[in-house]
Amino acid sequence: MNKLQIRTLEQYYEKYAQSVSDPEAFWEDVANEFRWMKRWDKVLEWNFTEPSIRWFKGATLNITENMLDRHVSIRGDKQALIWEPNDPHGKTVSYSYSELLDAVCVFANTLKSQGVKKGDRVCIYMPMIPELAIAVMACARIGAIHSVVFAGFSANALADRIEDAQAKLIITADGLNRGAKQIPLKRVVDEALEHVSCVERVIVFDCLGWQPAMKTGRDIWWQDAVEGESKVCEAEPMDAEDPLFILYTSGSTGKPKGVVHTCGGYMVYTAYSFLNVYQYEEKDVFWCTADIGWITGHSYIVYGPLLCGATTVMFEGIPTYPDAGRFWEVIDKYGVNQFLTAPTAIRSLMAFGEDHVLSYSLNSLKIIGTVGEPINEEAWNWYHLHVGKGRCPVVDNWWQTETGGIMISGIGDISPLKPTFAGYPLPGIQPVLLNQEGREIEGADEEGYLCVKFPWPSILRTTYGDHERCRVTYFSHYDGYYFTGDGAKRDENGMYRIIGRVDDVINVSGHRFGTAEIENAINMSNLVIESAVVGYPHPVKGQSIYAFVVCEQEVPEDKQIQARGEIVETVVAEIGKIAVPEKIQFVSGLPKTRSGKIMRRILRKIAEGDTSNLGDTSTLLDPFVVDEIVENAL
Ligand code: PRX
Repeated sequence: MNKLQIRTLEQYYEKYAQSVSDPEAFWEDVANEFRWMKRWDKVLEWNFTEPSIRWFKGATLNITENMLDRHVSIRGDKQALIWEPNDPHGKTVSYSYSELLDAVCVFANTLKSQGVKKGDRVCIYMPMIPELAIAVMACARIGAIHSVVFAGFSANALADRIEDAQAKLIITADGLNRGAKQIPLKRVVDEALEHVSCVERVIVFDCLGWQPAMKTGRDIWWQDAVEGESKVCEAEPMDAEDPLFILYTSGSTGKPKGVVHTCGGYMVYTAYSFLNVYQYEEKDVFWCTADIGWITGHSYIVYGPLLCGATTVMFEGIPTYPDAGRFWEVIDKYGVNQFLTAPTAIRSLMAFGEDHVLSYSLNSLKIIGTVGEPINEEAWNWYHLHVGKGRCPVVDNWWQTETGGIMISGIGDISPLKPTFAGYPLPGIQPVLLNQEGREIEGADEEGYLCVKFPWPSILRTTYGDHERCRVTYFSHYDGYYFTGDGAKRDENGMYRIIGRVDDVINVSGHRFGTAEIENAINMSNLVIESAVVGYPHPVKGQSIYAFVVCEQEVPEDKQIQARGEIVETVVAEIGKIAVPEKIQFVSGLPKTRSGKIMRRILRKIAEGDTSNLGDTSTLLDPFVVDEIVENAL
């Protein structure tokens, strides 16, 4: 694999040029470093019209053979996974590559015994414990398609995702640890399953010793289910284009989409991007603080690092428990060399002052990364100075659930650093900026819609059960381009800065929500007739949610706290705590055009506290409603 590593800026330019002039030869070279059961007939076949994208056509492989078996003979005793529990005094768990292979095979056999077959969908709703990573790989081992749902989603949100994927089996736990709190999971699964009928089996990991109710014939304890299962499980041969997993993500329409990634391309790209962006060396320890419920955890806790034979750290807890020094303590504890976290975590830790970070040496760090949302200059500087001690490059990883892996980013200490700029595209990635008319903008210091004009191996292939939705969402805005939904700027050196979403998607603490999704949830409240939700800047979360709500009856001042409480409860039940609006303003109407379209631009400005120039409001259906909203803005 080391052969794939770019070592100098010149090499980067060379590889980049090659990846554009002959993409098939470029990716064939990369793919040659993996173990395939059968080689491909053709490296790439594609069009962005349907869209239809096939990488390594005709090849067969199993990704877990590349993550585990392949390493066992050369680094079998090397630590593959180190697990740091929520409780700093709790017992660390670690798996060598050999032990991890055994554990994955045992659980893969367990899934088979429970009736799971290749192509079946398995929903995973788990704490951040090693069994989550094991469950993911066990699915991949037997060709079952995993759909991990972040354990902060509500029963209704979970039910929607189970139903959409028609999952046959669910893997969960009694509950999870999160800082000082313990949160139930099995109870949420039970509630979700009241609304769905496709699930035959629920495997429950005993994490907290809570003894939740178990439904006879449906529920089984993980610890009982694995009894007597063999450590040998042959890896299922998978077509390169067979689905590996589904991961639900929000877009500008109401219902989250199941983004589908496939076995071959996802394998090649997550490994390639991991190896290069983090310049991983054999003895290094890599730590990504994301949750496996999101794409970052899939690609850079589990798949990318293990494909490269790395030691990957998995953390159960939160950055501020028991105090704001926890991240730094864990880095020193394991001698972490590469560290990846989110801007929102950096900003929240900044608020606790420097003392926490200055108490730790952080000497082992070589490269520090950020991902998930734009990073402001102040947070970038703090991270670079206090965590990276001014000597570690900050790599800002721009990518998306749909892209599968990092697309634009610094490459270790090789590429130039510029605060708030993600940087250059990785080899194989061809970003462009388009104007309103869909024409490519050339030149420096320009802003436009960020699109990609050529496929890369881990591009999404479809949205589960609804290919048309995939086409319309990503490939129909601009003919022949993948549309990211982001706006970006390019400087005179060709470095990209991501500005943020240009569609109705809000990024709260690095979590994506569609405004329509939150509005749907708010509108479920009996009090509400209609609502409009916008994002506004927030010093820690990046963006926060502002809801303008029209109720059946006017809500008097003294009833507003109660009404807000009811709306919040509805959002918690429909989506989860992570989607609760920070501000809820009761309004008598929404600013609409004569054709009934809500003027979000006006609402956004009001939410931002900028009411100086709201533009021409005279064409609105009811122009006076704007004055009222401005007057009562929160
Ligand atoms: O708006 C961009 C923002 O997060 C969106 C993707 O969200 P998600 O699919 O949840 O994936 C997050 C982790 C990859 C993008 O459309 N985003 C992600 N990374 C960055 C970013 N914005 C600015 N800079 C980044 N590094």
